[in-house]
Amino acid sequence: MRRPIIAGNWKMNKNIAETKALVSELIPLVKDAEAEVVICTPYTDLYTAVELTKGTNISVGAENVHWAESGAFTGEISASMLTEIGVKYVIIGHSERRQYFGETDETVNKRVIAALNAGLKVIVCVGETLEEKEAGKTEDVVTTQTIAAFKDVSSDKIDDIVVAYEPVWAIGTGRTATADDANATIKVIRDTLAKVFCPACSEKIRIQYGGSMNPKNAHDLMAQPEIDGGLIGGASLKAVDFSMVVKY
Ligand code: 13P
Repeated sequence: MRRPIIAGNWKMNKNIAETKALVSELIPLVKDAEAEVVICTPYTDLYTAVELTKGTNISVGAENVHWAESGAFTGEISASMLTEIGVKYVIIGHSERRQYFGETDETVNKRVIAALNAGLKVIVCVGETLEEKEAGKTEDVVTTQTIAAFKDVSSDKIDDIVVAYEPVWAIGTGRTATADDANATIKVIRDTLAKVFCPACSEKIRIQYGGSMNPKNAHDLMAQPEIDGGLIGGASLKAVDFSMVVKY
């Protein structure tokens, strides 16, 4: 009942020429996909990606957004600037933003509210570090992050919400969570969403797995009942690899 959603997170990769090449190669490869397909690109590639994907089944997302509508926030981009050019999704609270750019649960929440109010769909990332995993804190961490991210978010926004469970130790490391472990943690996130919104709401919200997901492990991960999609880093930078994950 939940339509799978496979999203690429290009991170800080690809210039405009590379974007044109990758998107042109990707369009025919995924045109029959059953899953929803999203590519999240650097700001400088968004316009090109949106123009190239018009009339296709690929949506475009940004990798961050500021919570203010406008103002003296040097270097930031607002939600309406994204919607104006046809961006549909935005990743919020990626662990790299939490780790390197001072993102907190509070700023994640402010971005989520601003993005949803502007009509963007959000992909909200949660996940534990290796240290937290080894201390047995995985459930606590994802629960706390999930509750904080959706504080004061109305349940009439649930159709616009995707959550990505990305264990930090699995990102870019080639180390994937086992399908069983990912499924179990995503169940914890879903149970938390049931309390934050409502049980029926949580059954509608799609929850992705992310962290070294690739053409080899996508099928097993996607076969899990709680896993509704993937947020793909490295493997989204090559059209063939990404299309194989899309078609898991
Ligand atoms: P990798 O797929 O490169 O591990 O990255 C995952 C990720 O961070 C997606 O947001």
